[in-house]
Parts: sequence; structure tokens; C-alpha cells
Amino acid sequence: MPASKILPQVPVWRSLYRVNKIADNPIPFMSDATKKLGDIYEAYIGPRKVVIVSNPDYIQHILQKNNKNYHKSKVVKELLGSQLGQGLLTIDGDYWLKQRRLIQPGFYKQRLAELIGIMTNETEDFCAELDLQIAQNPEADVLKLMMHLTFRIVNKALFSTGLQKEQLKRVDYIVTNLQKYVITMARQPYLYPWLKLTGKIKFYESLRRETDDIVYGIIKERREQKSGYNDLLDMLINSRYEDTGEGMNDKQLRDESMILIVAGHETSANALAWALYLISQRPDVEQKLLQEAEAVLGNRTPTFEDLPNLQYTRQVIQETMRLYPPAWIIDRMALEDDEIDGYKIPKDKVILLFIYGTHHSPKYWSNPETFNPDRFAKENMKDLPNYAYFPFGGGPRLCIGNNFALFEMQIVLATLLRRFTFSLQPNHVIDLQPLVTLRPRYGVKMNIAQRVGAVAKPV
Ligand code: HEM
Repeated sequence: MPASKILPQVPVWRSLYRVNKIADNPIPFMSDATKKLGDIYEAYIGPRKVVIVSNPDYIQHILQKNNKNYHKSKVVKELLGSQLGQGLLTIDGDYWLKQRRLIQPGFYKQRLAELIGIMTNETEDFCAELDLQIAQNPEADVLKLMMHLTFRIVNKALFSTGLQKEQLKRVDYIVTNLQKYVITMARQPYLYPWLKLTGKIKFYESLRRETDDIVYGIIKERREQKSGYNDLLDMLINSRYEDTGEGMNDKQLRDESMILIVAGHETSANALAWALYLISQRPDVEQKLLQEAEAVLGNRTPTFEDLPNLQYTRQVIQETMRLYPPAWIIDRMALEDDEIDGYKIPKDKVILLFIYGTHHSPKYWSNPETFNPDRFAKENMKDLPNYAYFPFGGGPRLCIGNNFALFEMQIVLATLLRRFTFSLQPNHVIDLQPLVTLRPRYGVKMNIAQRVGAVAKPV
């Protein structure tokens, strides 16, 4: 039996010294430590001493090979769970498996093919609105626009009747606020008494109750109508557990719907905003995207069959999510003692899988800071180790919406770029803001114009 290896440590004073910076943005701290100590080490992030991993083999061990030994950490389960509810993202063990089996068929490719119409229609309506908006004012924050668009898409895919405009705005606002709360509690839990004293906790509770009222309202209406809408909510309502033949109750439906709304729009919105920023810096990439859209789509809106042919568009999205992975970190907790390549991982240890770190590692990527969509051309992917690229996680808990997101982003990019030009406003600062998702801190402020010779409104 080989002697176990000692986990490299970041000295505690270094974490303390940078405590506020780490609370604000832990990526530089974690990246520095990865450079100095390697792709597995221990450090204090806030009050917790955690293991930080960016080695693809170790990641595969945790997410796939020995996934049964790793559950989500308490931060995800208790904090996110208390805000979003007990759904796929926040549950573990037998209940998770039961829910995953029930919900997975809603995301099979043939089911998604039926949602492509929703994606194209919502994107077209959005373009029409954007036309009006830029006629008044060409300056806009593309992050906000993308949040709005992806929220509309997931809202329609889930509840085809859709939330009403005002409700949509409210839920959007509430979700953003609840996310801020979760992050504050994860990184600075000692602020809780202060938040309670200042009435903030009450405020967050009232926001949660408000979303409950909205979502329960929709579920009640749908149960009463009983007619087929062919959307994700219908699928959730009509699916039956194999063992009992029963369906989900209202609380389960509420929780799973909330999780799909939240998990299903922020991530894609961030990826799209980052993509538009990166493309704005690279006219050569923009030209290739336009040529592909022209060749594949001509004057049509994209269909399901077009998606495999929008290959370069897909590469641009993949490369964007390498540089700016919307889920920049995944966390897990060891259920029992484990050993990874000779490193002892004790029971209850929290492990952060540092997706951003792996995606920027010079070990797996040449010139890792350069935006180069050609990396994802098939012929260039052959030598990439498993789990050197994992924006959607992996193993049994791979993102259930990965194809939904990829199709949606292909459609949105191909449609928007044919209709509009996007240029970054001079002096606009791009910086990272890693919350639950990786956002551009100050948004992406751009000047938007109709593209000269644009496809007016595809048929
Ligand atoms: C660019 C877009 C997206 C990214 C980068 C992304 C990323 C991820 C990642 C990394 C995980 C795994 C988390 C973990 O293992 O702890 C995950 C899980 C999940 N995602 Fe996504 N996601 C995206 C879009 C979507 C969409 C569109 C939906 C739904 C419509 C969705 C729903 C979910 C759900 C329900 C889970 C939990 C799955 C489970 O544990 O069984 N995601 N996502």
C-alpha cells in the first residue's frame, strides 16, 4: 500500500489576508493557488477549509467513478434548497434518482425537437422588440437582454401559457435577489444576525412566498384545465412513478418547476452575453458565423434539422463556455473516507470542483486565455482528456438541460447575428463576478444596430 500523499495547503493567513477579496471574487485566489500548488490543494474559502480540485482524473473520480460517495454540500442543499425547494438540483440519493428518472424523458432529443418552435418564436419576438428599442436608444446591456430572452424561452417551454409580463418581471427580480442571499450566506455566514436585524431575512422570505403564490397558481390552473399543452409542466404533471403509479404532488411540482426556471435561464444567459462580448472582439469569428448561418439557413428560421449543421456556431458556444463557464464551480461532500490518487479525503470533507481552473489550465489548453473556437473542431478534440472540459458537469448528475441549452444558444446566436451588429461600448470594463453563475460584473454594455443587408424577418 503506497503511503498517502499530503494535500498541499494554502496557509490560513493568506486566506485571512484576502478575506474580503475572496468573498467578492474567489477566482484569482483559487487560480493563483492552483498555479503554485497544483491541481489539488486545501484552502480556507470563507469559514470553511475545503479541497479544491482541477485535475480531470480526480474530477472524473468524484463525478463519475465513485459518484455514490459524493453528495452535494450543505451549502447547495440547505441554502439553495431553502430558497428554490427540493428539486433535482438540490436533492441527493434515492429521492434524486427517483426524480431524475421521472423528469429525464422530458429532455430526450425528440422531446426537445418539439420545443425548437418555442425557441425560434420567442427569439423572433425578442428581435422585433429589440428593433423598436434600438430605434429609441442603441445602447443596451446585453446581459440584461439575454436574461430576459432566456427567461422567456424557459418560461414558455415550461408553462406554454407563460407567466404574464408583470409576473415574469417579478420572478426575474426575485430570483436575482434570492441568488444574492445564497451567495452572501455561503461566503459570509457571519452576516446572518445583521441581515436578520435589518429585516433583510424577512424581505427574502416574502420574496420566496411571492414566487410560491405565482407558481402554485399556475399549477392549480393547469390541473383544473386538464387539457394537453405539450409543455414541460404537462410532462411533469402527467409523469408517474414506476413503483406507485402516482404522480407528483403540488409541492414537488412547484419545486421542480422553480429549479428548472432558475437553472434553465441564468446559465444560458451568461453564456450568450459572454459569447456576444467575445465575438465583438473578433471580426473574423463573426464573419465565419455569418457565413455559416447564410449557407445553412439562407432566409429561413432554424429548424431542429439545421442544428447539427450550425457546427461553427456550436464551437463558438463551446469555446465561450470554456473561457467563461457559466457554472464555474461544482461542490460536493464526501459521505465516507476516500482516497484519490493517494490523497486522503476524509468523510464530510467539502470539495470544490474548479471548472474555471481546469478550463484555463495550460496543461490541457494551448494559449488558454485566447478565444479560439477552432479548438472544438472535431479533429482538434481527439487528444483532450476526459473531464478537461465539463461545463455541464458529468456522471449521473450531468446537467439535464445540456441539449436544451446548446440548441437554444445556437438558435439565439444564429438569429441575432444575422439581424444585428453588437459593438462593445468604449471604456466598458469587463470583469468576472462569480455568483452561483459566472456573470460579467458590470454587464456587457453594447451599441446595437440593425445589420446592413440583414435578413429582415426570416420565413
Ligand atoms: C449554458 C447552460 C447551462 C449550464 C452551463 C449548466 C450547467 C450545469 C451543471 C454544471 C450542472 C451540474 C451541477 C452539479 O453536478 O452539481 C447542472 C445541473 C442541472 N441543470 Fe444545468 N446548465 C445549463 C442549462 C440548463 C438548462 C437549460 C436547464 C433546464 C431547462 C438546466 C437544468 C439543470 C438541472 C435540473 C440540473 C440538476 C440535474 C441533476 O442533478 O440531476 N440546466 N447544470
